[in-house]
Amino acid sequence: MLNPSWTPNLWRERSALHQPVYPDDTGLRRVEDTLHALPPLVFAGEARELKSKLARVAQGEAFLLQAGDCAESFKEFNADNIRDTFRVMLQMAVILTFGASMPVVKVGRTAGQFVKPRSSPTEQQGDTELPSYLGDMVNDIEFTASARTPDPQRMIKGYHQAAATLNLLRAFAQGGYADIKKVHGWMLSFVENSPQGHRYRQIADRISEALAFMAAFDVGPASVRQLRETDFYTSHEGLLLPYEEALTRIDSTTGKWYDVSAHMLWIGERTRDPNGAHVAFMKGIDNPIGIKIGPLATSEQILKLAEIINPKNEPGRLTFILRMGHENIDKKLPPLLRHVKTYGLNAIWACDPMHGNVIKSKTGYKTRPFDSILKEAKAFCAHLRNEDIHIGGIHIEMTGKDVTECIGGAQEITEENLKDRYHTHCDPRLNASQSLELAFLLADELKSEVTRTTTPSAKTVAS
Ligand code: PEP
Ligand code: CO
Repeated sequence: MLNPSWTPNLWRERSALHQPVYPDDTGLRRVEDTLHALPPLVFAGEARELKSKLARVAQGEAFLLQAGDCAESFKEFNADNIRDTFRVMLQMAVILTFGASMPVVKVGRTAGQFVKPRSSPTEQQGDTELPSYLGDMVNDIEFTASARTPDPQRMIKGYHQAAATLNLLRAFAQGGYADIKKVHGWMLSFVENSPQGHRYRQIADRISEALAFMAAFDVGPASVRQLRETDFYTSHEGLLLPYEEALTRIDSTTGKWYDVSAHMLWIGERTRDPNGAHVAFMKGIDNPIGIKIGPLATSEQILKLAEIINPKNEPGRLTFILRMGHENIDKKLPPLLRHVKTYGLNAIWACDPMHGNVIKSKTGYKTRPFDSILKEAKAFCAHLRNEDIHIGGIHIEMTGKDVTECIGGAQEITEENLKDRYHTHCDPRLNASQSLELAFLLADELKSEVTRTTTPSAKTVAS
């Protein structure tokens, strides 16, 4: 039942980092009141359903695929972008399910991923210094004083864009697009002739064959919902606390608080102070919660966060999203896992191989070498396997478009190519082909985890 001592505004008593400074308090309050009266974007029952699926991940029986934009924008908002990201996620899920023989829980970084923590509150260009761009729900990316002034009305625009995105995603997930019979059709034309395209087609062919076989027994998409539809959930960093507070409601079925802006929320690397406002907010809502863990995190901090966010040690409630960087992971991760493991936490351990691997190219672009991303993902899997911990999930910034934002991959994107199609509003994303390449690598890693846990060890055989 409802925790009587917690209310959605309690975070206001703590220090809240990375919040915009609005020029006008009355305008902000008016927007909060408007948001408060608007309908929920997601239902509490859906967040509960996601939590029960994530519980299976925590127990080693499923895998979490969390993916999407670094920052959604108002300008790039259109049906094609949403569809293409969705179809690449479907393809990744097929590759992973096929490789690991386990269900894949699909969670988009979408329908609310509009607010960014920045390394500096201001940006300098020539002699001019202006507030940094903080995401479309706060200010505009254009470098002028008026564009960079935080405007609370942008929260309302973000809410409506999130509603329209969710509406389309629900239609894609349940309206026939995700039917497994369409497994070949999810391929994007520019990936078709790549090595990933060929590998994907081989899997798709085998699935079609299996479907034809099952059809002889009258089993197929028409009779089995899971083959005809998919479950797709939304998530974003719960950074802008006035927005999250205004969308936090009591669920009439359970009497518990839910943040109905998304199914899952996560706390960023820069706002995970156990005494800070973001942790104070997330502890009171019943949604599944993610916490980013960077290379400076200690095992004591991880245990403290688990105690605050998941005091009942409920599986599915808490996901640690590790983003160490390929240069730090071998040194930092093993001791951390070894120590935390002894406490028996029911948490998901997922890998974000993106945020610790940012570099500046010689041509001036912020980029990520695809090799570093693969290296970190591989090292993550190896260390978890060593400690007998389930490889719980992957968290990536990607798009279904053929962008040139991360260097490397089968298309061999070079530093010179970055300028060709560099469209991100914040961090560089994997394109469709790089996303599939990563999925194939993970499928192999998961397969060896499954083989290990189902093959009796030498010791068992001998005794
Ligand atoms: C992000 O996921 O976009 C992000 C800012 O990550 P982190 O908090 O890990 O830096
Ligand atoms: Co990012």
